[in-house]
Amino acid sequence: MVRETRLSPADMIAPLFVRHGSGLREPIPSMPGQYHLSVDELVSDCAGLHALGVPAVILFGLPAYKDEAAAEAYAEDGIVQLGLRAVREAVPDMILITDVCLCQYMSHGHCGVLLDGQVDNDVTLELLAQVAVSHALAGADVVAPSDMMDGRVGAIRGALDGEGLSGTAILAYSAKFASAFYGPFRDAAHSAPQEGDRRGYQMDPANAREALREVELDIAEGADMVMVKPAMPYLDVLRRVRESTQVPVAAYQVSGEYAMIEAAAAQGLIDRRAAVLESLTAIRRAGADLILTYYAGQVAKWLS
Ligand code: PBG
Repeated sequence: MVRETRLSPADMIAPLFVRHGSGLREPIPSMPGQYHLSVDELVSDCAGLHALGVPAVILFGLPAYKDEAAAEAYAEDGIVQLGLRAVREAVPDMILITDVCLCQYMSHGHCGVLLDGQVDNDVTLELLAQVAVSHALAGADVVAPSDMMDGRVGAIRGALDGEGLSGTAILAYSAKFASAFYGPFRDAAHSAPQEGDRRGYQMDPANAREALREVELDIAEGADMVMVKPAMPYLDVLRRVRESTQVPVAAYQVSGEYAMIEAAAAQGLIDRRAAVLESLTAIRRAGADLILTYYAGQVAKWLS
């Protein structure tokens, strides 16, 4: 009764990876217990999560091809668009969120268009807006830009509204740090940059005031919800963001946080269930209204 913070599946968003093909459920080596799912398997996982009380998923796509314009990211028959239509039809109530980024679709693995070896912020905005519109047309309720280009929330809001998609919400990855904890995801999504790193557009882990500024800018541009990412190493940032804004705040327990718990538990060094529940409770206590976590389905089972 005196507990101040509670965990509920209703606060969780499950990240899922979708690929082309059918009947495929391929284990992701860097993230034990997570899979690359073909669309039919994606539908079945979404139905299972929905039945467990997890209201939302965020989709990441593994495209059939990569190029220098990230063409599959905004193709009508792109993998995320196919996944969205199938889940929308089979599990109509599921809240469908999409990660809006170009890195998985770019041959060079950067989150934006490269001009002379540098990511060009403003040219990238046009492509991101196209991606968001194509996700919304395919059934996304919420688009979540994770690229960290300046001005992308405004560009996406403008493009959505221009297409009559004013009901599509934006969850901005506002305070996204240039983190070592994305390592396992980059293996999972085949999205590591071939050259260089993401420090030109993602944030310096040393900066918390800058995070508040990014949040302010994103809200001014039209973000409906904001995110702090990763979660556990940035609980102080999460608390400050929670106190500085009225919009819903999400935190992303990222692939490295997941993989560390899995690896330590597999070696018998920590109690998996206790560590998962403690880490998620700490993220809620720090101020997250919503948590993106690879443990969403697992936790929903434990709590039921
Ligand atoms: C795409 C993106 C990344 C993650 C979410 N969206 C990778 C990155 O920025 O390198 C990381 C998710 C995770 O580590 O679980 N830009």
